Parts: sequence; structure tokens; C-alpha cells
Amino acid sequence: MKPVVWGVLSTAKIGTEKVIPEMLASPLVELRAIASRSLPSAQAAAQRLGIPQAYGSYEELLADPAIEAIYNPLPNHLHVPLTLQAAAAGKHVLCEKPFALSADEALSVRAAAATVHIEEAFMVRHHPQWQRARELVRAGRIGTPRAVQVFFSYFNDDGANIRNQAAIGGGALYDIGCYAVLAGRYLFEAEPLRAVSLVDRDPVMGVDRLTSALLDFGAGRQVGFTVSTQSVPFQRVQVVGTHGRIELFIPFNAARGGQMTLALDEGGALDGSGVTLETLPAAEQYRLEVEAFSRRVRAGTPPDASGLGEAVAQARVIDALWQSERSGRWEPVVRD
Ligand SMILES: NC(=O)c1ccc[n+]([C@@H]2O[C@H](COP(=O)([O-])OP(=O)(O)OC[C@H]3O[C@@H](n4cnc5c(N)ncnc54)[C@H](OP(=O)(O)O)[C@@H]3O)[C@@H](O)[C@H]2O)c1
Repeated sequence: MKPVVWGVLSTAKIGTEKVIPEMLASPLVELRAIASRSLPSAQAAAQRLGIPQAYGSYEELLADPAIEAIYNPLPNHLHVPLTLQAAAAGKHVLCEKPFALSADEALSVRAAAATVHIEEAFMVRHHPQWQRARELVRAGRIGTPRAVQVFFSYFNDDGANIRNQAAIGGGALYDIGCYAVLAGRYLFEAEPLRAVSLVDRDPVMGVDRLTSALLDFGAGRQVGFTVSTQSVPFQRVQVVGTHGRIELFIPFNAARGGQMTLALDEGGALDGSGVTLETLPAAEQYRLEVEAFSRRVRAGTPPDASGLGEAVAQARVIDALWQSERSGRWEPVVRD
């Protein structure tokens, strides 16, 4: 396959440290350019990483006719605006999570999503540990799935970090709660009907620093999660069914190129004697993500807005959780 020509918007840490090295290593990607608000920053990153072209503004990169696809790892409030600008320039967009700050904002991309491929960059969907967990659920290995429980935390109280700025879409629910929402939707293969949240905000920065939530998927299926930006780093996903349980030990920050281990308990013995550990093939989730997107672009199939549909579904759940924070009650998840 002829490599897809990519450009990256900004010198964001996730790009320069995780995603760009995988782009550079992939035969399916030709990384042509990086842009920054500051030309010297773009030039320094381009030189350090070995990217041929540096631009001193996002607009200049979007005007480069050679670029076919954009990776957008801007702060959350700029995801939709720059995705719209990129789509208007005819570029496909892989956009970081959360795709939008609200479902309405995500829906503003609807017309553009009919012209270019647009996808929310949930790299975990490409990791074998997530795919295997869903395969085990589908095969009935845990019986009827009842509950998904997610914990995801880290400690970061730096007021300069984008995660701690309320005005640009900071806070735990947007940053990591979106993964918990995804875990439930991915493993149940369904949409929640209603949601309730309990939110603790940092008194100075205003962002949510500890958010817990319940999502009711109907038919006796529930997601419970806690996410925190000011707690000791920890992450787990548990899927509990009538006869078994699956546990992902490092569900979100899988080691680069590492082999992850998943636990399957088909016995239910409280001492853990029924647990078997499965070691999954070595994988790099960011590489798999950019390659899957590149293949989609090169396949030449017309954009079908399925990526946007996924992003809207995610945003609808987060909308309901914010609404629940305000009302103190269960809130419906709006359906199309
Ligand atoms: N999928 C994942 O595993 C993962 C992991 C981490 C983060 N993310 C997502 O990726 C995005 C970036 O996260 P990050 O931690 O990499 O962020 P970061 O290092 O702070 O980078 C954000 C970049 O955006 C640009 N920018 C434009 N306007 C800005 C503003 N008003 N304030 C700050 N920066 C601004 C800056 O680049 P220039 O100065 O070069 O223009 C900055 O370097 C977020 O949406 C986050 O949710 C995803």
C-alpha cells in the first residue's frame, strides 16, 4: 500500500512522545510535517524527530496540498474547531479524545464527516487485550455480562497543565472518564440509557478531580467507574458476568510493544484458584491505531460517518454525567 501522507497539529506530548515515533516506524505512514503556534518549536520538534517539514501555524500545515491525513492532539477545546478546518481543507482527521466537549459540538462535524474520514483516537480499541476481552464476553466465557467496573487515576495538580484548565476542557471526566465510558460501550456493545455522577472539583482550578459514576445499560447491565486526576496512579477494568470475570491489569497505558496479561476467572473461587492468566501477543496500540486509519484512507471507500457516530455516542454519555452533576439526579442519555 502507498503510505498515507500525514501532518501533525502541535508539539503535544502525546504526539511527540508516543504517536509520532510509531508513525515514523510504520511503512503505511509518510509523516510529512508538524505545526506549532511557534515556528521554532515546530522546527525543534521536526529536527529532533526527523520530520521533513515544520510550520509555524496550524493553518499553514492545513494548506499543504501534499498532506492527506491529520493527527489532532490539541487541547480538548480545539479538537472540533481544527477538525472542521482540516476537513474543509479536504484532510482526513484522527482526533484525540475526547473528540468534543458536548454532543452538540460533535454533531457540528456531521456534514464534514460525509466528506472525509474522521475518528476519535481511542488507541485502546486496537489493543489485543481489549479485543480479547470482548471476544471472551461474546463467546459467553463469563456467562451473561452484568457489570463493568473501571478505575483510572493519576496525580497531576500542575495548574499549567491542560488537564487542570477548566476553560479548555480539563478535568478527570473528559480526560480519563471517557475511557471508562468507552469500556462499558465496547464490552456491552450497547449504549447506556441513563447516568448518574458524583463529582468533586478542585476548589482553585475548578476542574473535576474525582468523579464517580453509574451507567445503566438496561437488562441488568451496569457500569461503575471512578476516575481521578489527584490520586495515586492506578488503573483496572473488571468485567463481571453470571459465571465468570475478566480483569485487565493495565487497560489504558499498555507498555509500548509489550505483552499484556489478562485474567479470566471461570471458577469464581474466592481464593483465586479458578483464575487463568492469558498473555497476549506483543502490540503497540498507537501504531495499530495510525495504521488502521491509514488503511481506511487508502481503501478509498467513501466516508460513512461511523467514526463520528461513535464520537457522538461517547459525548452523549458525558453530557448526561455533567447534567447529573448539576441536577444531583439520574439523567437520560439522549438518543439519536
Ligand atoms: N490517547 C492517549 O493516549 C492520550 C494521552 C495523552 C493525551 N491525549 C490527548 O491528547 C491531547 C493533548 O494532550 P497532551 O498531554 O499531549 O497535551 P500537551 O502536551 O499540553 O500539548 C497540547 C499542545 O497543544 C498546543 N496548544 C494550542 N493551544 C493551546 C493552549 N491554549 N494551551 C496549551 N496548549 C495549546 C500546544 O502545541 P504548540 O505550542 O506546538 O502549538 C501544546 O503543546 C489531549 O486532548 C489529550 O486528551 C491522549
